Amino acid sequence: MTAPLTAPMTRQDTAKRAAAAFALDRFVEPGMRLGLGSGSTSHWMVRLLAERVRGGLDVVGVATSAGTAELAREEGIRVLELDEVDGLDLTLDGADEIDPELRMIKGGGACLLWEKIVASASERMIAMVDESKTVATLGAFPLPIEVIRFGWRSTRRLVETVLAEADVDGRTISQRHLAGDPLLTDSGHYILDLGLGRIGDPEALERQLRRIPGVVETGLFLGIARAMVIGREDGTARLVEGP
Ligand code: A5P
Repeated sequence: MTAPLTAPMTRQDTAKRAAAAFALDRFVEPGMRLGLGSGSTSHWMVRLLAERVRGGLDVVGVATSAGTAELAREEGIRVLELDEVDGLDLTLDGADEIDPELRMIKGGGACLLWEKIVASASERMIAMVDESKTVATLGAFPLPIEVIRFGWRSTRRLVETVLAEADVDGRTISQRHLAGDPLLTDSGHYILDLGLGRIGDPEALERQLRRIPGVVETGLFLGIARAMVIGREDGTARLVEGP
């Protein structure tokens, strides 16, 4: 999922790295308590942050996944548990899709629950994306939802009922697998991926899905990002601030 800084980079890697570098330059200050996102863009950010820490930058990180915690520690960043800090100043994280209102689909890496908890504990959350992630309407990327294992088939039937009434173009539901087995999140839950094509009303869908008891969290991140940094394949990046 992540490449070392020295590996040959794809054009998309260049864009992701550019977004991460821009976000660090613009938003990170000494003494900050930082939420560290998950996924390849965030892992670029962690590696670039680690270079700054080795150069004397004093920050602590709280990771949004076990994988990010491991990478950050390996790179020499001081990593604390969320409950060891009294809130966070800033979270930098990637996204699978982001619309002009900075509404996002996240969870392509199955880390959506911790990502939403960490982002919500932060004064500011800034999304770092390459241009392929920006969309006019959310929904082409399958929407992940995290569900409790107990009674998950029953939960799935309730999700079907919600989708039947929702303003969406597709209604497929698939359980995510890894190496032939159902994927377990860092919290030991399952992921269902909802193939919706287009989400006409993300707020309404979020409300309906969250009413289902077995649904722990959805990958709809609404009203969470304050800004997005869009990395380009030429290695530059630009900032788009929220309304
Ligand atoms: C992890 O669960 C996701 O929310 C990631 O933030 C998202 O999938 C972006 O990943 P990339 O940076 O690898 O594209």
